Amino acid sequence: MARVNHSEPRSQPASSPGTSLGPTGATALSEAFDGRPGVMDRRGRALRDLRISVTDRCNFRCTYCMPAEVFGRDYAFLPHTEVLTYEEIRRLAAIAVDLGVRKLRITGGEPLVRKSLPDLIAMLAVLRAPDGAAADLTLTTNGSALRGLARPLADAGLRRITVSLDSLDDATFRRMNGVDFPVSRVLDGIAAAREAGLDPIKVNMVVKRGENEDSVVPMARWARAEGLVLRYIEYMDVGTANGWRLDDVVSAADIVGMIDGEMPLEPVAATYRGEVANRWGYRDGSGEIGVIASVSQPFCGDCTRARRSAEGKLYTCLFSATGTDLRGPLRDGASDEDVRAILERVWNDRTDQYSELRTEATSHLPRVEMFVIHHSSTGVENSWTGSAAPNRSSWINALPGRTGGGYIQSCPKGPSGDEGTEITSRGPCSGPVASGASLPGRDEPPCSSPGWSPGGT
Ligand code: GTP
Ligand code: 5AD
Ligand code: SF4
Ligand code: SF4
Repeated sequence: MARVNHSEPRSQPASSPGTSLGPTGATALSEAFDGRPGVMDRRGRALRDLRISVTDRCNFRCTYCMPAEVFGRDYAFLPHTEVLTYEEIRRLAAIAVDLGVRKLRITGGEPLVRKSLPDLIAMLAVLRAPDGAAADLTLTTNGSALRGLARPLADAGLRRITVSLDSLDDATFRRMNGVDFPVSRVLDGIAAAREAGLDPIKVNMVVKRGENEDSVVPMARWARAEGLVLRYIEYMDVGTANGWRLDDVVSAADIVGMIDGEMPLEPVAATYRGEVANRWGYRDGSGEIGVIASVSQPFCGDCTRARRSAEGKLYTCLFSATGTDLRGPLRDGASDEDVRAILERVWNDRTDQYSELRTEATSHLPRVEMFVIHHSSTGVENSWTGSAAPNRSSWINALPGRTGGGYIQSCPKGPSGDEGTEITSRGPCSGPVASGASLPGRDEPPCSSPGWSPGGT
């Protein structure tokens, strides 16, 4: 069967000592999705993208993700023993790459809070698909610790990076990140990523009505001038802690309209089937933006993404309530064939299309929190009352720019072609103490005390 290869000749197999990818693990992969071999789900979607959470902890408390009033000092993050080790992460990633995964995205919580992350990057950077291709290895971060880590990450084999940044306005940014973190530090982190040669640098901006929609155009001007790829993300009903309301969503169509009024845009074709962002180029050729419209233009039909939480659960949808445990089998001595069989079975059975079925009532259904599986399972779950779901069309049609057929298909200009450790013992912080400084999972004191570095287990 196809094996995971490595750029350097290695005497050992991709599997851990004592396990092997043998002939019994062979599976016929289909090329039906995009012409390349892959494992397929029930809707004909290949598994191409594995998002790997390395910690459920974060030093921020973004209002739309980990609101401080919910994720306070009493919140129980995963104990270190329950978080996958780097070798366990590497092993799972190797099996996934062998199954057709082409992109590995490291996420958290905030991934940079985990100790020695460059070591993991080095372990993943050498993975090769059966055809010899390297996986697209990338990372999503809030940027707060990039100044110290951009270079080591690049040296370890990271090529590109995505930084979350919701506003250039310091007051807005401090309010949205929930811990009064200054925007200048994130901008410096982006500068460090550039100095380290990470390219492209993408910036993710979640747009939330009443919070930062007045930052949409200034962010576009800045990113264009800096040569960054800015992606606007519609505020989503991920998790159940953020109190999401449809009224808080600024649609992709409105976002594009705002920018186009000052800097004319035109649609750009997708780079590959299943791309999350709709791309728009500046007509003068000075760069591009992306809009991620999972509320107004669901893209489940081509969704190729699986998420693996820090504790080793596999989620086949951002909005899943439950995941499949992989850590148990890994620690119980399962062979690579066994683990591969689990991955295949879970993906083969997949039918997810949450965003296409979204209603007001579904936003109250139990599901995993974003920080657990993406930039982030312990899942904070609430109880769904089971009240009758309102008519989807009456609800979702309230979004500006909506057309028929279930999604917004157009914008104003026409068709458009996402273990840590307890971070409280970093030694004395000599800087000014910001609110939230004692929150669990906070990896970085609100100061620049010499000697402090993001850490973990
Ligand atoms: P590139 O590999 O750089 O193209 O990134 P990406 O398009 O895969 O985007 P990224 O991982 O940075 O995700 C950006 C945002 O899109 C995430 O933060 C999510 O908000 C949203 N998103 C990503 N994947 C999904 C998905 O599968 N479903 C939904 N509903 N939203 C997603
Ligand atoms: N809606 C949209 N995007 C979100 N993210 C986190 N929570 C939400 C949400 N409720 C984004 C962050 C980050 C990425 C990893 O996930 O902004 O860019
Ligand atoms: Fe914010 Fe990302 Fe942390 Fe969530 S995981 S609170 S989006 S920085
Ligand atoms: Fe994929 Fe689920 Fe997002 Fe749809 S809602 S695009 S199935 S992760």
